[in-house]
Amino acid sequence: MVIKTVEDLQEVLFRVHSSGKSVGLVPTMGALHDGHLSLIKRARRENQATVCSIFVNPTQFNNKEDLEKYPRTLDDDLKMIEDYVDFVFAPTAEEVYKEPATEHYDFGDLEKVMEGPMRPGHFNGVAIIVKRLFDWVKPERAYFGEKDFQQLAIIKSLVKQYHLDIEVIPCPIVREDSGLALSSRNKRLSEYEHKQAANIYRILQESTHLETTDVAKIRQFVADEIAKVDTFRLEYYEIVDGETLQPIQNLNDTDSVVGCITVYCGEVRLIDNIRYK
Ligand code: PAF
Repeated sequence: MVIKTVEDLQEVLFRVHSSGKSVGLVPTMGALHDGHLSLIKRARRENQATVCSIFVNPTQFNNKEDLEKYPRTLDDDLKMIEDYVDFVFAPTAEEVYKEPATEHYDFGDLEKVMEGPMRPGHFNGVAIIVKRLFDWVKPERAYFGEKDFQQLAIIKSLVKQYHLDIEVIPCPIVREDSGLALSSRNKRLSEYEHKQAANIYRILQESTHLETTDVAKIRQFVADEIAKVDTFRLEYYEIVDGETLQPIQNLNDTDSVVGCITVYCGEVRLIDNIRYK
């Protein structure tokens, strides 16, 4: 069932909640791929009702062109997920932002690194839409991909700060056979760029096998390897504590270590990450 308004959404979910059924929410911006489907299938296994939202959220784009170019494939999306979800919430921007987006969230140091400075306002926009979806859907569980590693940390922090009774479930990155992480943005790569993009994960994997724990050396290796691939331009590669997202100096500094990368492949901004431990 495709729902377009907040009122209809709340009405159907009122019945679901009243009958004691658990609700799993999978927020998306559409252009769905097997990564999204893995979240939806998991939500379906773990809840009695599944809601998928499809909404290209303008408040999280700090670049107008990026927003305009974001792929919109609602008909294909609906076909892909119809057998797996109970409700699809696909509102217009006017519907979502009847109440103007004036909320201001503070995620402290979590938003001062990586995507934060690169995309000012991005995480506030993500938090605005996710908090509104949480308030409207009131899910028991919400599912997010680990590809957007920093976003996941921000959403966990949102849930904690507002004492929301929602379990945030991180889901593993789904990759093509080539290793390229599935992303809606991959649709914008040319055939050649798509082939080259597989080098991101190859380089990340190689970086986990170096004979050093010195983060500066590992970052240099990644930067050098990325520079060798035509079509690539590295925006950043940070190796951070997997909980605080703060940069570390040595892999032995902490128990959870993740490398987060953003690379332009041609005009397309791709992100990925890898765990060192
Ligand atoms: O990860 C995404 O697709 C978006 O940031 C989200 C969580 C659906 C919010 O618009």
